[in-house]
Amino acid sequence: MKPRQLITVGVVAVATVAALNTVPATASRPYDPTAQSLGTLGLRHGLHIGTAVNPTGLNDTTDPEYRRLASTEFTSVTAENAMKWESLEPTRGTYDWTAADQLVEFAKRNRQSVRGHVLVWHNQLPAWLTSGVADGSISKQELRELLRKHITTVVNRYKGKIWQWDVVNEAVSDPWDTPNTLHYKGFWAQNLGPGYIADAFRWARAADPKALLFYNDYNIEAFGSGNPADDKTQFVYDMAKGLLRQGVPIDGIGSQGHLGTQYGNFDTLQVTAALKKFAALGLATAFTEVDVRSQMTAGVQAGDSAEINPRLQASAANFSVLMKACLAVRSCLSYTVWGFTDKYSWVPDWFNDPPEGLATIYDENYQPKRAYQELKSDLIFAGPPYVLPRSTPRPRR
Ligand code: XIL
Repeated sequence: MKPRQLITVGVVAVATVAALNTVPATASRPYDPTAQSLGTLGLRHGLHIGTAVNPTGLNDTTDPEYRRLASTEFTSVTAENAMKWESLEPTRGTYDWTAADQLVEFAKRNRQSVRGHVLVWHNQLPAWLTSGVADGSISKQELRELLRKHITTVVNRYKGKIWQWDVVNEAVSDPWDTPNTLHYKGFWAQNLGPGYIADAFRWARAADPKALLFYNDYNIEAFGSGNPADDKTQFVYDMAKGLLRQGVPIDGIGSQGHLGTQYGNFDTLQVTAALKKFAALGLATAFTEVDVRSQMTAGVQAGDSAEINPRLQASAANFSVLMKACLAVRSCLSYTVWGFTDKYSWVPDWFNDPPEGLATIYDENYQPKRAYQELKSDLIFAGPPYVLPRSTPRPRR
């Protein structure tokens, strides 16, 4: 760390202490941090607390609570689907910006940062693109040019309005895929080869010099064997190191954080160690899509508290592990939940055999769960010497 940055930290710390001392704490009405929103408490550490936002919730006039919580509890928002290619360009050559613009305006009105999600992904691509490639009417060369144009068009439209872009999403396979040796998977790697990743970051940087450019993936919360053939975190780490060596403008690694209470998962120190390893490469990190789902057994569905309670408690613990690890590492810039209420969670739609749910921090009636309270207490009880203000990375050229 350069001495200049150290001085800046000192100033921020002093300023923070001064600000805390000015908080009105009269005998009759003591300062009550539990009355603050997650977002406000996060800012005490310079950490943005975000949520994915769903236009159905945002536009439902009979449900003002969704809008209220989305605008007051969080200081960052991500479009859950509105910035995906199939949403933006359903017909070739015709972009529909309505939902994405609405999200960006919502954020502006509420002084929130925006995580742009997502420029390059193998899912939710428009049918004209995938079928054109499948029937040979779109050549490989044309495909690469279409990708360049897409990235340039989208990044350009929101230039200066996006804090972090997920430039490439989920490029790496999982141990359960075939072949089971980890590799670059999916539509883009198959058609363009893995070089598309470096290209995508360069094209995004050319269109917006200020946005932080992220690689985003799931199941990379902690290191495993250390062998990139079966350890996805190691594979992503090696990839990022390789990109940096080639001078590719990658600024950060987004760890989605889709967890389930039925799995082993990790402890706080394992997750902290992973964030620190990425930080040592000079990369920012973020938790970008946190939710912790559980199996909806017959007992859970019938309201059996003996089955529900352990799930809610395990969920809260897992949310908290990621939060504490993030707080512990200064380059972990934001913690985003993938929807904040079970009312609109993607989990029941996507994980239905066996059925899963209970994945977010508020229930479907907007009652905060234990997970919400744990995140809040993590933010309240954290501070120096181990939890310090966030670092402010400069976008790589
Ligand atoms: C999900 C959305 O939540 C769903 O509404 C949609 O139907 C499918 O995609 N990883 C990602 C997100 O990067 O974009 C995905 O979002 C969840 C997994």
